[in-house]
Amino acid sequence: MSFTANRLLLFGATGDLAQRMLLPSLCALHADGLVAEDLEIIGTARHPFDDAAYRNFAREALEKFMPADRRGGMATFLNRLHYQPLDANDTDGFARLAAKVGTVDQGLSIFLSTAPALFEATIAGLAASGLAGELSRIGLEKPLGTDLETSRHINDAVSRAFPEERIFRIDHYLGKETVQNLLALRFANIMFEPLWNAAHIDHVQITVAETVGLEGRVGFYDGAGALRDMVQNHMLQLLALVAMEPPANYNATAIRDEKVKVLRALRLIAPDESVIGQYRAGAIAGKPVPGYDEELGKVSDTETFVAIKAHLDNWRWKGVPFYLRTGKRLPERCTEIVVQFRHVPHSIFAGRGARTVPNRLVIGIQPEENISLSLMAKVPGLDREGIRLRSVPLDITMPDAFAGPTRRIAYERLLLDLIEGDQTLFVRRDEVEAQWDWIDAIRASWKEHGLLPRSYTAGSWGPSAAIALAERDGVTWHE
Ligand code: BG6
Repeated sequence: MSFTANRLLLFGATGDLAQRMLLPSLCALHADGLVAEDLEIIGTARHPFDDAAYRNFAREALEKFMPADRRGGMATFLNRLHYQPLDANDTDGFARLAAKVGTVDQGLSIFLSTAPALFEATIAGLAASGLAGELSRIGLEKPLGTDLETSRHINDAVSRAFPEERIFRIDHYLGKETVQNLLALRFANIMFEPLWNAAHIDHVQITVAETVGLEGRVGFYDGAGALRDMVQNHMLQLLALVAMEPPANYNATAIRDEKVKVLRALRLIAPDESVIGQYRAGAIAGKPVPGYDEELGKVSDTETFVAIKAHLDNWRWKGVPFYLRTGKRLPERCTEIVVQFRHVPHSIFAGRGARTVPNRLVIGIQPEENISLSLMAKVPGLDREGIRLRSVPLDITMPDAFAGPTRRIAYERLLLDLIEGDQTLFVRRDEVEAQWDWIDAIRASWKEHGLLPRSYTAGSWGPSAAIALAERDGVTWHE
């Protein structure tokens, strides 16, 4: 049933995500008139705030995390906020929460980001208090399990209270504008799709590099590691969007049907097709930073870097490696996708001394949003000493091309879609399970072969073995 909810219930309302992302996103949507006048936002967490104290708390978060020029509607936004303290293990607490939420005859959207240990109790509490009725939908923020089995367990628990059409699993990368633009690039242009296959593409690289380290997330990160924190979700979603067949329509079913086929075509990697690393003390942008074990306060085998050579066993991508790498404390923050095309089948310029370089498409996702296609061009001249060709970029800088529209953060888009009930940019259960299936097999193989993280210096591009992983195929990571 389609409905635009006029109640939004935020679990984890005092947490880091709420302060940095959710409250600023909602405030921006409010300021731009994108949410209905009557939308009320009810925050809940353990902390014993009342409405007034929560509004103060929210104001401080907005002042800290929202650019001053986007805080226009802050005063009126704060009036939408309400708060109800909750201990997720206290059943009566949910009855009080439901009373605070009030009538939900116009629809309720719930945003759940909670500690894994409280997950099931929360779902049960929602169901028991009538907050999981037909006019309720639920957005789920990670972590949603640590492997296929625990993810199934969580999904089973949620599905006892909400059907799949009302479950919105969040992968915030899908809320990023440039990630959605991948679909426009591929399917709103005629020139890429005929070439988008093994006959014309040599390989694909996907890099998600971060300069940050643990950022105080000691408990969570050390139990997860780069493979589960970044590859299982964000990087596999990027891979699926790059590799999927053209969906028939831009809608949740068609797009997710195509993504899941890609995820199911991932081949189990061979033992020498991954490299893991952990950063040691070094420097980022000239500033010294400690090593992972120093930040953590103990020795650990958790990987903070992973590079993988992945393959898709299907017709379109047979024989085309997808090199994936992600890591903390790398030299720069950069998320990009590189599509490396093959050589022209025959160079008419070879006899004139000119070398052709294969075309390359670089899709910059962050921090720079740009698309760059390298093309061969003739260097101007009379060519007395032979023809000279050079690769020149055809660049589109997205903020320049679209100077008008406001740049929005991923959660603005995702929260609005959650309120309005559009599942297109949310992950379906079968996708998550296909993702875990592949990740679990990699972890099992690491365990079987006793693979341990290699050290890399903070501020470098990871262990040298990661460079070798690509170079032994004659491929250089794009930097
Ligand atoms: C999160 C990970 O999902 O994504 C973090 O848990 C990571 O470890 C973050 O830093 C990266 O997101 P973004 O949007 O900054 O690229």
